[in-house]
Amino acid sequence: MNPAIIEFFANYIKDQLGIMYEKTNYYQLEKRLEELAKSEGCATLEDLHKKAKLGIYGTFKTKLLDLATNNETSFFRDPKVFEMVEKEVFPHFMKMGMKDIRVWSAASSFGQEIYSLLMLNQELPLGTRPEIREFIGTDISEKALKKATEGIYNHVEMGRGLTPHLQNKYFSPAKEPNHWQVKMNLRGKVHFKSQNILDTFTSLGKFDLILCRNILIYQNVESKAKILDRLFDQLTENGILIMGVGESMIGLSTKFEQLNVSSVSIYRKKQNAAKKVA
Ligand SMILES: C[S@@+](CC[C@H](N)C(=O)[O-])C[C@H]1O[C@@H](n2cnc3c(N)ncnc32)[C@H](O)[C@@H]1O
Repeated sequence: MNPAIIEFFANYIKDQLGIMYEKTNYYQLEKRLEELAKSEGCATLEDLHKKAKLGIYGTFKTKLLDLATNNETSFFRDPKVFEMVEKEVFPHFMKMGMKDIRVWSAASSFGQEIYSLLMLNQELPLGTRPEIREFIGTDISEKALKKATEGIYNHVEMGRGLTPHLQNKYFSPAKEPNHWQVKMNLRGKVHFKSQNILDTFTSLGKFDLILCRNILIYQNVESKAKILDRLFDQLTENGILIMGVGESMIGLSTKFEQLNVSSVSIYRKKQNAAKKVA
């Protein structure tokens, strides 16, 4: 291994995405860079480094950022969160008269999080849940965005979190054997687009519900605090932010309060903080 070369790429990834590769993970990064070198027609990592020094852009950049991300996800990941959405979040919206909501998944990965929420919503009786007017999924990984947009999953992915009832109702067999595609009535409700969590969000507009799960773990404390501040600005007055299980605001923001006391990190704007921006 040439640690200086790995460090060059690790620093680039940190600047672009905020994702920090510890030196103990350089071996893993090296393996991924070797794959990238092959696909870029470079015989060695030294050649890839020379190419990178001339400029990282286009598909080279896309592939480099893709290899740096961990896209781990599954249908109804951390089921308790979806239970709380049904029992606390949707009733909160109905109580507040928010019957028609805009939702954003800020790390949509391969799309399972979004389709799970849409299925949950559809399964509930009318009058007990808001209509999802628009759902936006964003991620930095082009391969994740492509897969999420197609909504096609293999039998292993389908086996992680989906009941046979949901599979039969919301998926059709895809062309490839043992693959299923989300039906158009759900897929048609979502737009996926590229968005770096480090960039400004203002062009996305305001949201009633933001899912920001299992992405901040890769950021340092300063970036986490800045991102939470900007997420606050994107929420409507009575909007809700859901973080990942095990993630919390502690030491990062004082602008939010927990919707309920539980292990699930569901937050709303503090009412005095909300009034200041209203
Ligand atoms: C572990 S997945 C989480 C997926 C889903 N939210 C969940 O909890 O199952 C993290 C996602 O964050 C994306 N990601 C990482 N850094 C990013 C950045 N700087 N901007 C936007 N997306 C990023 C990755 O591409 C990946 O798909």
